[in-house]
Amino acid sequence: ARLPGGACAAGEHRVNPLIAALPGSTAFAAALRQHAALESLHIDLHRFPDGECLVRLDGELRGRDLLLVCSLNAPDDKLLPLLFAASTARDLGAQRVILVAPYLAYMRQDRRFHAGEAISSRPFAALLSAAFDGLVTVDPHLHRYRNLRELYSIPARAVAAAPDLAGWIVREAPSPLIVGPDEESAQWAQDVAARAAAPCIVLRKTRLGDREVSIDPPPPGMHAGRTPVLIDDIISTGRTLLQAARVLRAQGYAAPVCVGVHALCPAPAYEELRAGVARVVSCNTVEHASNAIDVAPAVWRAAQEMLGPD
Ligand code: R5P
Repeated sequence: ARLPGGACAAGEHRVNPLIAALPGSTAFAAALRQHAALESLHIDLHRFPDGECLVRLDGELRGRDLLLVCSLNAPDDKLLPLLFAASTARDLGAQRVILVAPYLAYMRQDRRFHAGEAISSRPFAALLSAAFDGLVTVDPHLHRYRNLRELYSIPARAVAAAPDLAGWIVREAPSPLIVGPDEESAQWAQDVAARAAAPCIVLRKTRLGDREVSIDPPPPGMHAGRTPVLIDDIISTGRTLLQAARVLRAQGYAAPVCVGVHALCPAPAYEELRAGVARVVSCNTVEHASNAIDVAPAVWRAAQEMLGPD
């Protein structure tokens, strides 16, 4: 007999959780399974000709905890199938349904920038909080919010990618100068720099439009002989990193390596960015050609903590 919240009665062992992935997140679910004894549950997603969807959960859920893996890049098309899957898991007797969203959407819409705009992060968080028992994500864009508790009413864990980013840099980018391309990136850049024992500078960015940014150049010749490693949480159009690379190059720095946590950029933007820098790598939070850093072990540790002791 399970206790409320999924705890086990004395002497009982928790049954291994189930894991299921929505389309676009199967690679991350597979990475999680490499580190954990998780039993897979298949989700079938059918699109009717009129555009509506039907989800079908293929397996026994009664009394089981379910990790539902869905990275929320391009979230609008994913949200309804995700909510239907969570609700169906409960209907079918799942004990707890935990959302593993390696990338969490809408976090940048954290204030009303212009009159009448939605502060989308809030209704988005309300929807997910109503549908799930817990949330595990990686480096959500916490800028004006200090933590996920300000938004999410369910237990929510923000896994830091910084240790894995720093590990990659130490292995692959000798003698780095860590560069944050804008003030919002300072939290990641400074953390990674400290872990990689590297110097760090943070540039100043002005956003002129969705695809246009201006970045103030750093003084020339700082930390000569080091390779700039640009760090950002999100690579969306790639313009922030591309423009930062241009101003660095114009000041005499070497072609930078770009390290992003979440790579959202479509192929043309990615190719344009790659052409302007030495290398682009990202974590596997969003399936992308630049994926090189596996954060699944860190995510599994956070999920285990949320699920509680065996
Ligand atoms: C800004 O808020 C984020 O930290 C990223 O700098 C931004 O999302 C990058 O966008 P883009 O690649 O479109 O310049």
